Amino acid sequence: MPRFKIETWGCQMNEYDSQKMVGLLKKNGFTQTESEEDAEIFILNTCSVREKAVHKIHSRVGVLKKRYGNRKIVGVCGCVASHEGRELLEKIPSLKFVLGTRSIHLITEAVNRALNGAKFLDTNDHTNEMDAPITFAERVGQTKAYVSIIEGCDNFCTYCVVPFTRGHEHSRPFSVILDEVRNAVETKGIHEIELLGQNVNSYNYEGKCFADVLQAVSEQPDVQRVRFLTSHPKDFNENLVRVIAAHDNVCPTIHLPMQSGSDRILKKMGRQYSRIDYLRKIEMVREILPECWLSSDFIVGFPGEDEKDFMDTMNVIQSVKYDNLFSFKYSPRPRTAALKLKDDPVPDSIASSRLSILQHAQEQIQLNKHLQMINHVYPVLVESFSKKNPKRLTGRTEGNHVVHFEAGRAEQLIGSIVDVRIESVTMASLKARLV
Ligand code: SAH
Ligand code: SF4
Ligand code: F3S
Repeated sequence: MPRFKIETWGCQMNEYDSQKMVGLLKKNGFTQTESEEDAEIFILNTCSVREKAVHKIHSRVGVLKKRYGNRKIVGVCGCVASHEGRELLEKIPSLKFVLGTRSIHLITEAVNRALNGAKFLDTNDHTNEMDAPITFAERVGQTKAYVSIIEGCDNFCTYCVVPFTRGHEHSRPFSVILDEVRNAVETKGIHEIELLGQNVNSYNYEGKCFADVLQAVSEQPDVQRVRFLTSHPKDFNENLVRVIAAHDNVCPTIHLPMQSGSDRILKKMGRQYSRIDYLRKIEMVREILPECWLSSDFIVGFPGEDEKDFMDTMNVIQSVKYDNLFSFKYSPRPRTAALKLKDDPVPDSIASSRLSILQHAQEQIQLNKHLQMINHVYPVLVESFSKKNPKRLTGRTEGNHVVHFEAGRAEQLIGSIVDVRIESVTMASLKARLV
C-alpha cells in the first residue's frame, strides 16, 4: 500500500489533527513512514501564526521538488491551508491537495484523488465532524492523549491569525469529550489527558462550562493526570482554580498568556484585560494553589511598543517568575486588525534586542527555580527512552519539566508515574534518580 509521511508544525491542536489523519489513513490501508525516500505521499500540517512558520512550507515544498521532481505527492493541511485556500494551490502549482483545519476528515479522499492524478481542495467549515468522539486518532507509543474540547476562536486579538484559520468557536458535546477520554484510557491504555482549545475557558455546551469538563474528566476511572491548554486571562476564574485544587490528578499547571505587561499595548492588542486584572488572577492562583507551576506567552515589538512598555513587560516577568515562558517577536499577519494600526512599527533590531533581553532574564529565573528543585522528590510520568542516551528514561513532572533518569526494568515504567529525586539541573531540563 502507498506510504505516507506526515510533517507537523505548530501547536498541540495540529499534533492532534495529525494523529487523526494518521489514524484515518492507516484504517484505509496506507502505511506511515518516517523515511523521506520511502514516502510516496507527503502531508504537511502547517502553522501560520508567524510569518516564519509560513516560509517553512515554501522552503520544504521547494526542497522536496528539487530532490524528487514530480515523483512525490505533496499536500498541505492545517492553518496555512485554511488561511490561504485556493491561493496556495495557485502559488505552489506542484501541490496536489489543500485541506483546511475543519476538512482533515477528508484526508483519505484527498490522497486517493491525488494518486489518480487529480487535485483536491476543501477548506469548508465541517463543524459537525467535531461532534463525534475521535476514536481513530493514532495513539500508539503515546503516554498522553490530546482531546479537544473547543475549537476555533472568537476573540480576534488584533495580532492573531488563529480566528481566521481555526474558524468560529465550537464547543464539542460534553458526552463526546468523555467518550473520547474513556476510549483513550480503556482501549489505548493512556493515563494522561491533555484537554485542548484555543481558549478552553470559553467552553459552553448546554450550560456546562470548562470547570465542569475538567471535573468530569478528572473523575473518570484510571485518569492519572489531566492538563489543559490554553486559558485566556479574561475568562480565567476562581471556580476553575478550585476544581484544580480539589482534584489531585489535575496538574496544578497553568499556562496563562499575558502577551504584554503594558496596559497601552494590551489595549491595542484587544486582549480585554489590564495588567492589574492579570496580576490579581496570578495572586488568586497562588493563594489557592501554593504549589503551582505557571507559564505564559509574551510578544515583543508590537506596533507602538516603546521602552516603557517593554519595561512594564520585564517587570511582570521579574515579579511573577514564571516556570516557563514562550516569547516571540511580533509578526504582522494578513487579515489581522493590527495591520491597520497607525502606530509606528518597532524596528526589527530593537524587537530582536528586546526579545533577547527577555529570554536571557527568563533563563536566569528558570535556572534558579530548577536549582531549588534539587534534592526534592517529584512524581514523573515516564514517556520514553531518552533520545541521546537509550539507557536513560525521559518523563515529565506535573509542571511539565523534562526529567532524565536511569532505571532498570525501564520498559515496564513507560506510561506509569514514578517518584524521582532531582540531582542536577540545567535551564532546560532536570536529571534525577528513581526513589
Ligand atoms: N489562544 C492562545 C494563543 C494561541 S497562539 C491565547 O490566546 O493565549 C500562541 C501564541 O503565539 C500567542 O499566545 C502569542 O504569544 C503568539 N502569537 C500569536 N500571533 C502572533 C503574531 N502575529 N506575532 C507574534 N506572536 C504571535
Ligand atoms: Fe489568537 Fe487571541 Fe484567539 Fe488566542 S485568544 S487564539 S491569541 S485571537
Ligand atoms: Fe499555528 Fe494554527 Fe496552532 S496557526 S499555533 S497551528 S492553531
